[in-house]
Amino acid sequence: MSIIASRLSRIKPSPTNSLTGQVAELKAQGRDIIGLGAGEPDFDTPDHIKQAAITALQEGETKYTPIPGTMALRQAICDKFKRENKLDFTPDQIQVCCGGKQVIFNAFMASLDPDDEVIIPTPYWVSYPDMVALAEGTPVFVNGAERNGFKITSDQLEAAITPKTKWFMLNSPSNPTGGAYTHDELKSLTDVLLRNPHVWLLSDDIYEHIVYNDFKFFTPLQIEPLLKDRSLTLNGHSKGYAMTGWRVGYGAGPLELIKAMNVVQSQSTTHTSSISQSAAIAALNGPQEFLADWVETFKERRDLVISMLNQTTGISCRTPEGAFYVYPSCAGAIGKTTPNGMKIKDDTDFVSYLLDAEGVAVVQGAAFGLSPYFRISYAEATELLRDACERIQRACAALT
Ligand SMILES: Cc1ncc(COP(=O)(O)O)c(C=O)c1O
Repeated sequence: MSIIASRLSRIKPSPTNSLTGQVAELKAQGRDIIGLGAGEPDFDTPDHIKQAAITALQEGETKYTPIPGTMALRQAICDKFKRENKLDFTPDQIQVCCGGKQVIFNAFMASLDPDDEVIIPTPYWVSYPDMVALAEGTPVFVNGAERNGFKITSDQLEAAITPKTKWFMLNSPSNPTGGAYTHDELKSLTDVLLRNPHVWLLSDDIYEHIVYNDFKFFTPLQIEPLLKDRSLTLNGHSKGYAMTGWRVGYGAGPLELIKAMNVVQSQSTTHTSSISQSAAIAALNGPQEFLADWVETFKERRDLVISMLNQTTGISCRTPEGAFYVYPSCAGAIGKTTPNGMKIKDDTDFVSYLLDAEGVAVVQGAAFGLSPYFRISYAEATELLRDACERIQRACAALT
């Protein structure tokens, strides 16, 4: 009998986290590698947030907190929803977790029975299908075509709904494409949900603050308040406040669901670190001005990367509305041969070639459920991005 549970056979390790490990290993071996695989801002956590953590330590905030998070943090989250999204939540409708990832994990563990279906638009964040599978649900994929900005339409959503559908997952702006839904696009999707009252909505808003050129972010509940009794709105500190390592994410939803998620959390992580929770309050209640500067820097990087990719043989790349990713097509490289005589059959071969030939680490579209593409995270120094794009240009020019 194997020591490994059969449920593990349904899932695989996160390909993006694995790539980060591989890049670190190659660098340790002395190879000149540019890693553009990690979904992590290169900015440092702002000082006032760090100071709040230091004060929390000095003041002895080092004990267990309530399972769903401290009352002060949950109140700060309610204030954030009111201020930024015009949504009314009470602290008992909030759960704070070890990152947004755990919000999804808790929600699925608390709500999915075997064979319940979860609709996931492709390309998707790598963890969604595996978290559904771990909770014994069934992911149902809906193809977000490139010509529609990698977004799905209301007709596609309607067609994917069955009596077994429990959740519809929406992530806007999106990891991996950076695509974001407009007000009207969201309205057409929420209209479908209104017509299907058994379907719940999980809106992953983690890239809310990273949008460009006056694009206006909306969370679906703002557009359709009638969905409030069957929506879980996810957000967190990792991306907007450059706090990936602090592990703070949160979900807001109906009391019945949050209570069930609290049970899951009480038997797993208990809560995220008390120090991180104090820092998270400072992030939400403190100055927000630095965000505009970060977004401006991200935008310059996005524009640089897109312009260089679109001058690359065999590559084409649309301009996304938000997040810090681009999702270029490598269709023009498929079928070609590398200088070492390897035939590039798919995007997985293509990204291995970039790593071997030029030391650029990016993630194949297959990991996100849509090929032939690859994802570049441009949350890196501008000079490094320029160097990486020159390397990609060189690698593509060498294909025959
Ligand atoms: C779409 C999306 N949702 C959720 C998360 C979870 O982030 P964290 O667990 O760091 O809050 C990520 C991280 O990459 C993401 O890209």
